[in-house]
Amino acid sequence: MTGEPPVIAIDGPSASGKGTVAERVAAALGFHYLDSGALYRLVALEALASGTAMDDGDALSRLASGLDVAFAGGRIRLAGVDVTDAIREEAVGTAASRVAAHPPVRRALLERQRRFCETPGLVADGRDMGSIVFPQAPLKVFLTAEVGIRAERRHKQLMEKGMYVKMADVVEELRQRDARDSARPVAPLKHYPDALFLDTTHLTIADAVDRVLGWYRERVRG
Ligand code: DC
Repeated sequence: MTGEPPVIAIDGPSASGKGTVAERVAAALGFHYLDSGALYRLVALEALASGTAMDDGDALSRLASGLDVAFAGGRIRLAGVDVTDAIREEAVGTAASRVAAHPPVRRALLERQRRFCETPGLVADGRDMGSIVFPQAPLKVFLTAEVGIRAERRHKQLMEKGMYVKMADVVEELRQRDARDSARPVAPLKHYPDALFLDTTHLTIADAVDRVLGWYRERVRG
């Protein structure tokens, strides 16, 4: 056992609710929180803004290495500009999924993600938190929900933000994103055997948070 701060790794597909669950678990324990998808979204945003080709892994990895990002008070700033809402756009999410398939981009973001692991602990959400970034995590969760439910949740979120999209398009977009994130050869999205499975299809956010906190108490801080 090393003296490293404990990490709770929460991986899962888009719109599974893992970000909200992770953030609340972190708040309940007083831990730091890493939204790793935001980093891929930031690289995608820069790539879209600079016209960098989505198949140019080296150019994209240079963007990833040079990211001038600050997370503070729930807001995300890129080179001083608040991009918290901009990175949530569907187009940015789709581009992030393409950007994330390049191994050099993933390598460029690895250390940056690991630096979030500080006392008293970290809750990290993404696709490869338990498999690659924090393999030593004492608690790993694979959090998912049926695609129809995820699409409903995403659709509701988008409508609340005034972004009008067709439900059928949201389902299709999620299916494509799942397929791309799961099929890539590096750090694919998948349920590894050392992660506890949490299906939130019929759970509220509060139930899911309680389940993760319960596992943490049982298995880590017993
Ligand atoms: O979690 P999210 O929807 O914000 O992530 C956006 C994209 O970034 C997702 O489609 C795949 C990629 N991603 C990844 O490859 N690895 C992570 N740890 C987090 C996100």
